[in-house]
Amino acid sequence: MLQAIRYSDGNLTILDQLQLPYTEEYVSIRTTVEAWHAIRDMRVRGAPAIAIVAALSLASELSGLISNNILPTSAGEVKDLITDKLRYLITSRPTAVNLHETSRKIMGLVSNYTSDPAATGHDTAIIVIQEAESMLVKDLEDNQKIGQNGNNWIIAKAISPDSPKATVLTHCNTGSLATSGYGTALGVIRALASSNTLRHVFCTETRPYNQGSRLTAFELVHDNIPATLITDSMAAALLTRTNPKVNAVVVGADRVAANGDVANKIGTYGLAILARHHGVKFLVAAPRTTIDLSTNSGDDIVIEERPSSEVTTIKGASDTRDARGNLVINTVSIAADGIDVWNPAFDVTPSTLVDAIITEVGVAEKDSRGKFHLYDLF
Ligand code: MRU
Repeated sequence: MLQAIRYSDGNLTILDQLQLPYTEEYVSIRTTVEAWHAIRDMRVRGAPAIAIVAALSLASELSGLISNNILPTSAGEVKDLITDKLRYLITSRPTAVNLHETSRKIMGLVSNYTSDPAATGHDTAIIVIQEAESMLVKDLEDNQKIGQNGNNWIIAKAISPDSPKATVLTHCNTGSLATSGYGTALGVIRALASSNTLRHVFCTETRPYNQGSRLTAFELVHDNIPATLITDSMAAALLTRTNPKVNAVVVGADRVAANGDVANKIGTYGLAILARHHGVKFLVAAPRTTIDLSTNSGDDIVIEERPSSEVTTIKGASDTRDARGNLVINTVSIAADGIDVWNPAFDVTPSTLVDAIITEVGVAEKDSRGKFHLYDLF
């Protein structure tokens, strides 16, 4: 299985997603500062992966302080150090809630432990290291459950006995590269493939960062899943087709508000409108760490805006190779010089357009009045 995040005994490396799909290179992350830059520059991305890398970078940094014998002995000082690092890490990217939730959880554990007068600096750090390590394992388990729950829901509610295999459209990258492994929406697709219920997957290119063509296509090819790449503007035409008939659009999420509004990769909202118009199920697959009950609705979600260069340039492999036969990666301009650019990384899909939210503990659907009850998942 593809692994975007590797960690063992204080050593963290991540697959550099800026170089995919051309080069598979792992880069080492030793500190929270290195993690902040890797997250901001999107060497690692995807809501769960961002949170896990941030937590493991803190674990790595604390392990380094312990092995160099420079960790403060007082629990209070270590608590302050951890608080500062977490406050800094959450400034890397604002929209995905998983990192905020992780920081809140770690701070809760640390505050709880350090309220004991016998607490030590060393054991405060160990609590954080153990929590970060367990996140890596738990996220993978949760994704496998999400996959199974999504598979069962699609079989029960999105396909018919006369055509018992599903054709699915997905957006952005929600797979092994966006999580600790398996994936959320891509996990549902993997589960459909394993149960022999998948006919075909369509993945969007996902402009401007091309998570679909670079990363999801890479994972689908890697796993031998029958798949076709489309540009974002082809989705409407695809949904008009009866052969193949798309049964469901399945996407991930960066933050699900308490009312079921979903912040996800820019373009998700458009797909949800298309799905509703064409009578296609629109499903959101996300772990409970992506559900933010403290955010009432999508109006309260901060949408990250990214540099204009992501829209005005494109990076790719040239069709010629260098003298040694290596691929040549170039960045080229694709827009008129001087044009103004708007580059929101995410949009918000209102809950009215969402048919179901697939989590590791079950699938949430709306009641007869059209309301989700996401509190029931906790
Ligand atoms: O900007 P990105 O690549 O971090 O955005 C990723 C997405 O929008 C994903 O759909 C979302 O994080 C879910 S990943 C399991």
